[in-house]
Amino acid sequence: MNKLIVSLLLTLGITGVAHAAGDATAGQAKAAVCGACHGPDGNSPAPNFPKLAGQGERYLTKQMHDIKDGKRTVLEMTGLLTNLSDQDLADIAAYFASQKGSVGAADPKVVAHGEELFRGGNLEKGMPSCIGCHSPNGAGLAAAGFPHLSGQHAQYIAKQLTDFREGNRTNDGDAKIMQTISNKMSNKDIEAVSQYIQGLH
Ligand code: HEC
Ligand code: HEC
Repeated sequence: MNKLIVSLLLTLGITGVAHAAGDATAGQAKAAVCGACHGPDGNSPAPNFPKLAGQGERYLTKQMHDIKDGKRTVLEMTGLLTNLSDQDLADIAAYFASQKGSVGAADPKVVAHGEELFRGGNLEKGMPSCIGCHSPNGAGLAAAGFPHLSGQHAQYIAKQLTDFREGNRTNDGDAKIMQTISNKMSNKDIEAVSQYIQGLH
């Protein structure tokens, strides 16, 4: 592990704290209502609804808690998590994490620039590559809560990067990792890297 990641883990307080273990079988029934938007197996068919299939359990649990507590605003999900317990959220996370994520296709016109940014960052602007945390194949680092990105809808990815840049999504921890990185990205950079991620596997 490189120094950046180690210090990040410490900053985020990721030191292997025990969480309620999720039960994927129980989670499947509890996730029925989510399937309408995210797809029954977590492979959402709509480009503005994120795929949850194959996403890391730790990341999913954190996002659900953040959405439930209002630290991340998702209007479409208003009230949906209110009556779910910590155990329910853990079970749902275990279910979606156990599903296989589907992959899309990248727009060939911008994929080369996207790959360059994803793998090499932008030295001039001091923007790090994405692979250090999200891994070269976009699988993320589940144990650390670094999300799996590969195959995710480009439209959803682009919205997240724009939301981080514009301060509309601020739940990326005290280190503000994603807010800082997206600040160094132009709209064209965001479009290109999002297309690259959609086709990555
Ligand atoms: C009416 C549609 C809708 C329903 C139903 C819905 N969601 Fe969502 N969900 C969304 C949208 C839209 C987003 C992304 C919002 C954004 O752009 O930031 C989202 C985001 C998420 C995320 C964050 C994903 C990520 O990659 O960061 C999780 C986790 C999630 N939803 C879980 C659930 C669960 C669990 C349920 C069922 C209890 C559920 N959702 C039901 C629309 C929905
Ligand atoms: C130093 C580690 C680090 C680097 C480098 C990094 N990320 Fe992230 N990224 C994270 C973490 C941690 C999160 C989760 C934040 C949270 O908990 O909400 C995240 C979240 C995201 C999300 C939201 C995922 C979702 O499902 O909503 C996107 C999109 C993303 N990163 C894209 C990128 C791109 C593109 C790059 C390179 C330009 C990059 N990241 C570089 C650590 C990193």
